[in-house]
Parts: sequence; structure tokens; C-alpha cells
Amino acid sequence: MRVLGIESSCDETGVAVWDSDRGLLAHTLFSQIDLHRAYGGVVPELASRDHVRKLLPLIKETLALAGITLGDLDGIAYTAGPGLIGALLVGAATARALAWALDLPSIGVHHMEGHLLAPLLEVGAPQPPFVALLVSGGHTQLIEVTAVGCYRLLGDTLDDAVGEAFDKTAKMLGLPYPGGPELARIAAAGPTSHYRFSRPMCDRPGLDFSFSGLKTQVLLAWQKSDQSLATRAAIAHAFQEAATETLSIKCLRALAATGQRTLIVAGGVGANLRLRERLAEAAAREGFRLAFPRLKFCTDNGAMIAFAGAMRLAAGLHDTAPIQVRVRWPLTELLEVGG
Ligand code: KG4
Ligand code: ZN
Repeated sequence: MRVLGIESSCDETGVAVWDSDRGLLAHTLFSQIDLHRAYGGVVPELASRDHVRKLLPLIKETLALAGITLGDLDGIAYTAGPGLIGALLVGAATARALAWALDLPSIGVHHMEGHLLAPLLEVGAPQPPFVALLVSGGHTQLIEVTAVGCYRLLGDTLDDAVGEAFDKTAKMLGLPYPGGPELARIAAAGPTSHYRFSRPMCDRPGLDFSFSGLKTQVLLAWQKSDQSLATRAAIAHAFQEAATETLSIKCLRALAATGQRTLIVAGGVGANLRLRERLAEAAAREGFRLAFPRLKFCTDNGAMIAFAGAMRLAAGLHDTAPIQVRVRWPLTELLEVGG
């Protein structure tokens, strides 16, 4: 089955073709970073308008790269939520119109299921059951995955998502949008210093997270400091240490609580090299299996949507209702499609 995947939930237009026999045939991505930088964050209406401009050219380019035409497709998948309503509607309307014109089945994919399945795009990837750490700009969740579509929420953030904490902390430190990767870049250069921030909610049992207090600690430290470039790097370093160690501690707890021996990590913060390094150390020490998507498939992309959509279409699921997108959509509401 050959599926076109369309991602347009936020500030990236992503398109890909997944072939269930031959794997990923092509993928393209257009990032709107330059468009939103002047505003210090994503402006939803500008995002929607840019998806309108970029989506059809990207679809044409992706099909050409894959060496196929629209007539070679067996289905169309698109992100149906969660995300920005206008941005989602651009992808959904385009996908549904194409599917209708080509008389193909279409399927609305949950953006976080796309992220969660992204490690499975790799050859030899682990299959469920496993524990998944989903870390993005909007989510920080630990999930027990017993089959594709069968998701048990083990832990969630009580306030900010970890990606959001990276972004807000970066902004406080005067770093340009998008903050997360910028903060990680200067943290890598930052010296080990006398700054040390707490590992929130690690001193009590449980698998939930809270990152807003950590952000406040950073703000206070920054306000009291000399605000030099060296101090900024040192504070960024200490923030990254606190955030990644917190995630690592909770991952080990989740593995112990469920008895699972495999951890997969997905979502934009999964691109953080310090997090990858910490979890690799823990996996070697504790003897569990660890899998990440390749770096470019940690952040938003069309490949994960084509792949997740192909799994659902192959299980016989497809859209029936009129075009529907969801700004909020709990992952645990999805139907199981098998292991
Ligand atoms: O998955 P994603 O592309 O979009 C959402 O679904 O939210 O994740 C974006 C988030 C942003 O908060 C961004 O700052 C963060 O992932 N991020 C990073 C890194 N790369 C992206 N955070 C820390 N370190 C990175 N290297
Ligand atoms: Zn995402």
C-alpha cells in the first residue's frame, strides 16, 4: 500500500510517501521558522496561510522525488489533530479533496501517534509492547504501548510541556525563536557551573511532570546574574541538565512500573542530544532496549503521518464523516489496530 502523508498541524508543512513494501519513498519539509521569527513565536493565521501556499507544490515535489504520480497512490493520510485549527484544516481539506477526486480512502491521523510511531520507520525497529516517552512542544507523556493504537497514559505534565519549557526558558534568556534547539546549542557549549536547578517531582513517587517551577528558577537565577554570555550558557546548561535528568528518572520509573524492557522516545525534544546521551547511558547500565527516530523525524514531518496512516488504512479504517479536525484529542481515545 502506497500512502501520501500530509502534516500541517503547526509551523511545518511536511509531505511524504510511504510504501508498505518498499518503505519511505520520499519526504519533503518546509519550515516556517523565518516567517514567525520576527514575532518570537508561531502566529496561527500566518501559519495557515503559508500551509496554503506551500502544500500543493510540496505534494508535487514529493511525488516527483518518489518517482510516482497521483494515480499510483492507494490512500491519503493527514494530521487531523491536535494542533492549530486553521493549520490543520489546510492539510485536512487538501487531503480529503484529493482523496475524493482520486476515489481513494483517506484517514485523519493523530499527530502524537505519528510521533510515537516515528521510531518504527527505521529498519529493525522494536515493535510493541514498549514504553514511549513523548516529548514535544505541547506534550510530555509517558505511555505504555501494548499494540499500535492501544495506549495507556502513565504520566503527563501538570503544566508546561518540556518543549514549551525549553522554548520559554530560551526566550527569557534572550535567545531567538525557535528557542529549544537554540538553548540546546548554547547549553552544549556551556561549562559545568555552580548553577543547579531542581529535578521537579522526582522526590515523590509517580510518573507525572511539572516544568513551570523550573522555568521560574531559571528566571530568578538569570535576573540575579551578570547576564553575560558565559552566564547565559551556564544557566542554559544547568536547565538542560535538570530537564533531561528529570525525563530520564521518570522513564526508568515507567519501565520498572510496567515491567517493559523497551523504551522509545519521540517528539521534537527527542532531538536533544543530551537527552539521547543520558538515556543511552541508562539503557547500557540497566539493560533495556532504546529506540529514537532519526534526528529529522523527531520534529514534525510528513513521513510519520504517512506511516501511521498506512497502518490504520491497512487495518481497514478510513474517514467517513465530513472533514473534521480536533484542536485537542487525547491519544487514549484511538482505536487499536494491532501489534
Ligand atoms: O514535535 P515538535 O516538532 O512539534 C510539536 O508537536 O510540538 O516539537 C517541537 C518542540 C519545540 O518545543 C522545540 O523547542 C523542541 O521540540 N525541540 C528541542 C530540540 N529540538 C526541538 N528541545 C530541546 N532540544 C532540541 N534539540
Ligand atoms: Zn509535533
